Order: sequence, then structure tokens, then C-alpha cells
Amino acid sequence: MNINLKITKKQMEFINAGEDEVLFGGAAGGGKSYGQIIDALLYALKYPASKQLILRRSFAELDKSIIRSSLAVYPREIYTFNFSSHTGRFINGSIIDFGYCAASSDVYQYQSAEYDVIRFDELTHFAEWQYVYLLSRLRGASEYPRQIKSTTNPGGIGHSWVKRRFVDPAPQRTCFVSEEGLKRIFLPSFLSDNDFLCKGDPDYEKRLLALPEREKKALLFGDWNIFEGQYFTEFDPRVHVIEPFEIPRSWRKYRTVDYGLDRLACLWIAVSDDGSAYVYREFCESNLPISAAAREILARTPKDEDVYATLAPPDLFSRSQESGKSKALLFSEFGINFTKTSNDRECGWLAVKEMLCAEGRGSIRIFKTATELIRCLPALTVDKLRPTDCATEPHELTHAPDALRGFAIFHTRPSSVDGAVRRQWSRDMWEDYYAADKEGKKYLKEKYGEPN
Ligand SMILES: Nc1ncnc2c1ncn2[C@@H]1O[C@H](COP(=O)(O)OP(=O)(O)OP(=O)(O)O)[C@@H](O)[C@H]1O
Ligand SMILES: [Mg+2]
Repeated sequence: MNINLKITKKQMEFINAGEDEVLFGGAAGGGKSYGQIIDALLYALKYPASKQLILRRSFAELDKSIIRSSLAVYPREIYTFNFSSHTGRFINGSIIDFGYCAASSDVYQYQSAEYDVIRFDELTHFAEWQYVYLLSRLRGASEYPRQIKSTTNPGGIGHSWVKRRFVDPAPQRTCFVSEEGLKRIFLPSFLSDNDFLCKGDPDYEKRLLALPEREKKALLFGDWNIFEGQYFTEFDPRVHVIEPFEIPRSWRKYRTVDYGLDRLACLWIAVSDDGSAYVYREFCESNLPISAAAREILARTPKDEDVYATLAPPDLFSRSQESGKSKALLFSEFGINFTKTSNDRECGWLAVKEMLCAEGRGSIRIFKTATELIRCLPALTVDKLRPTDCATEPHELTHAPDALRGFAIFHTRPSSVDGAVRRQWSRDMWEDYYAADKEGKKYLKEKYGEPN
């Protein structure tokens, strides 16, 4: 039987990519999902009785896109699809399961499953741990090649981890080996790759051109240097990330900590004589009990480095019901005494924003060695329900910024609490403030008094 298919050059490249993990990512309409469907078909036919899984985040997306297109493309003579189990079967015994992970825990439904190839469509809609968990479902007794092949646009909740995993480590279209020894490759996709769409719908590009700037960058140009709903839009690595230098002894030094068993983040920050702050060291690690966390922090602080205060959020000072002791007390038993900061999130974030906008006094700069903070800060997104706050998901991004927030509120508060009683800012005032540019912020401060 002959199947008459035409594919683009880029789709061919995706189909031929034999790396353990492949990402085909970029502009909307480049032909990524279609490439995924064809690749799955060719694999199923080449490897009899093979098993593949194609995933989307929600069932509606799966049904409307991948299932529909595969039914349109896969020849009925060799392929049947079961609508209740979402399984497609080929006459050579190969199967494709079509799945979705609407709730975070949905990945566990694949706990006992085995696949030769797992395919994610719109990978940035997934969390990294879901991807990594499903990586472990790649196994089987056959000698077929095992791969995870994904397609996506930039943007979405998973933007930053996908970018970090595939886009940042090596030039595009260049295979590289991850720390775990897996081969990865990123293949970029552009609208111009897809003649079928460009010729069939010449106005499509014009419609993408009409999108707001950030969406346009992501969807028309397939640009990865965007963050959808980025909270710290003022963060600019060219300005804020600097080469390390030796911190003068006279500068006041702080440590600021965010601690939970899931993750410890500790930043070392020095304040210059002119009042600018420099994050000069960081330590972030998961699963450390208090004794180990304290030990690691102390081990990273040279004996002759005089730390003025170690800042920690108020929740570390609340007593545990079992031991009657607070985490702060336990840390002090292991040699670190905390100074309590404020847990007012919005004021804290605002203080961080102020520091990012400032030059000289009140500014913040980050040594390029503080890679976790540099990765997480620009990746935080705006909370959908409270636009003045940033989202607490993905949780792994929040720790280093939370530690910075503790410092920022501590560092900026004293100057603003001096003297006069100030008016309490309402949420509306805060929203106006966040939306304003530099001049606007100055005006609002004059109008309402210093933020509090
Ligand atoms: N090789 C091809 N032959 C025929 N039509 C194609 C081919 N490749 C892509 N198309 C068509 O082009 C359109 C866009 O392709 P596709 O949906 O794969 O793009 P995409 O990159 O996944 O887009 P998005 O980023 O929006 O998900 C679809 O209508 C698809 O059917
Ligand atoms: Mg698609």
C-alpha cells in the first residue's frame, strides 16, 4: 500500500532526529504537530507491535488537535481508533495511546505503562516533573529506539524549564549530551518552513502580526526570549548580571534564607558604601534537614567573612506543635541566628522591583555565578488571581526569589518607615503603581506617600 505524504524539510529533520530527547519548537503553524503525527505513523509502521504515547495537557486539546489530525492522515486500511480508550491500532500490532494530563497527578495513570516513544505536543504546557516522570516510562524488551519527542511554541507555564533543558545549552540543531548522559537536540520551527499553510492561508501571517508584542515574538517569530506573564519585566541580564569581583571587607554582608525541606535557598548579599546591593554567592539545595542546611550555609561562609545578619521569613519563627521549637531556634542551635523579615509578599516584591529599577543607591546587581537566582527571577509569572503578586507555581522557581524578597524588604523598609505616619495603600493604588512607568511611579509616590 502506498501512502502519499508530503513533508517539509524541517519535519524531515524532526523525523530523522535520533537523539534521546528531541524538541521541535517555535512559531505557531510551522508544522510541528503535523510532523509529530507523521513521525508517529512512520515509527508505528517501521517497528511492528511498538507502543507510543502522545500527550497533550487537556483532553479537549488532544481531541481537537492531535486525534482529529491523525484520523485525517492515518489510512483507514491500516489503522483503527478506539474513541473510549483513545488508543489507535495498526494492523502490524503497533499502538498509539493518546493521553492527557489535566491534573498534575494524571501522570501516575501511566505508572505501570511501558512505551517505546513518548510524544508531548505543546510541551511548555507541562511541568518539568511530569516530563521527567514520564521519561521513566520509556522501557521495554524490544530493541526499538526509545525516545521522547516533543513539539511546542515558546511561552506557557513550562517555558523556562523547556528553554533551559533544550534551547539554552547548545546552538540550535546541535546535539548535546545532558548531565545524565542523554542526547538532546533542539530543532527550531518557523512559519516560513510550512509552505502548506503559507500558500493555503496567506493572511495567517498578517493575523499573527496583529498580536501584542510578546505573543507576536513567540508565535510569529518563535522567539524563546520571552516570558508569558513575566512578573519581573524590569529584570535585564545585561544590566543586572555582572562579573564577580572581590567584595571590599568594609561592605556590610547579609545572608538571606528561604527554607523548607523541599528546598533551601540562601543568598549572600553585600551592600556597598553607596547603598547598592550585590548578590555575590548563592546556595540552593533540596531535601536538607535543618542541621545539614545550617552546616552547608556555614561551610560556604569563609571564617573571616563578617556576616552582619542572616535574614529569614516569619514562618520559620513559628513553633512546631511536636517539638515546641521553631525552625529558627533549631538553626540557632546549629550556629545560625536569624533576623526576622516581613512576609508581606506584595511589599516585598515591590521592594525587589524597586531595586531592579534603581541605579546606584538602592540598586541590586547579581554575580553571574548565582545561576539559580538568575534563572528563577525572570521566570516568575504574574499570579492570575492577584496580579500584584507573583505565581507560586512552578514552586521550584520561587525559593531563590523568596530569599531575595526577604532581603529587599528588610533593606528598603528602614528608610521608608522613618518619621511621619503614612497612609495605607489600597490594592487599587498598588495596581496603578505596578502598571506605571518610572515617571508614573514617582508621581504616585508623591500623591499617595511612600508605599507601605
Ligand atoms: N506536511 C504537511 N502536509 C500538509 N499539511 C501540512 C503539513 N505540515 C503542516 N500542515 C498543515 O499546516 C497547518 C499547521 O501545521 P501544524 O498544526 O502542524 O503547525 P504547528 O507548528 O503545530 O502549529 P501550532 O504551533 O499552532 O501548534 C495545519 O493545518 C497542518 O495540517
Ligand atoms: Mg501544534
